Amino acid sequence: MWLINSSIGRKFIMSITGIALVLFLLFHGTMNLVAIISPEAYNMICAFLGANWYALVATVGLAGLVGIHFLCALYLTFLNYRARGKERYAVDDRRNDVEWSSNNMLIIGAVVIGFLVLHLYNFWFKMQFVEIVHKLGGEFGDVANATNGALYIRELFASPVYCILYLVWLGALWLHLTHGIWSALQTLGFSNQVWFSRIKVISTIFATLIVLLFAAVVVWYGLSAWLC
Ligand code: HEM
Repeated sequence: MWLINSSIGRKFIMSITGIALVLFLLFHGTMNLVAIISPEAYNMICAFLGANWYALVATVGLAGLVGIHFLCALYLTFLNYRARGKERYAVDDRRNDVEWSSNNMLIIGAVVIGFLVLHLYNFWFKMQFVEIVHKLGGEFGDVANATNGALYIRELFASPVYCILYLVWLGALWLHLTHGIWSALQTLGFSNQVWFSRIKVISTIFATLIVLLFAAVVVWYGLSAWLC
């Protein structure tokens, strides 16, 4: 199958899964802003996205996207490493900007996923997972607060350590997105003379917007806890 066997096919998979994840981040970051405006409204959204069948389908789809994106990145890096052989330490200017599966992207991506595991423990594990276990008849966690996302956000960002950890995570995410969005758009064909510089700017603006959406919640709840 050309999608897996050819280099362009693999890059296509990375680009499509990456863009889908960026759209999820845009949705997630925008949704989180509601937690600043109205914690009650935020909890209503959390209840809507709880252990309902459509939310579970989305969760499984999301996990699949992250898995495919990460495994594909590992595979591409491995092939790249093997193909370059003894030449892999040679300096090659053409590769500086456009090597989308470079080691840095893989390492930064791994950092993003590492923090994501912590994040899922902080929220998903106490919310949707508790609801799933409860619906299956089990007893686990605090089911009364399983849709109280605003409470968990307030509790988490009352800790300066978590505020800093999340901001570091968002810094890594910004680095990954600025390069990733640009690379994905290039792979999908926006790479002519005119669009080359434009997609760099568009990617940076988009990555910054997404990261600011998340950072606003960290800073808002962090400062609220600090000032109260
Ligand atoms: C201030 C930053 C963030 C806050 C307050 C936040 C909040 C939340 C909450 C409350 C949930 C649980 C929703 C539920 O289970 O009903 C959640 C789930 C999740 N978050 Fe975040 N989030 C933040 C940043 C991020 C970032 C930066 C990423 C990705 C890089 C991310 C990825 C996810 C994923 C994958 C889930 C699981 C979604 C699902 O179950 O379908 N979050 N987040």
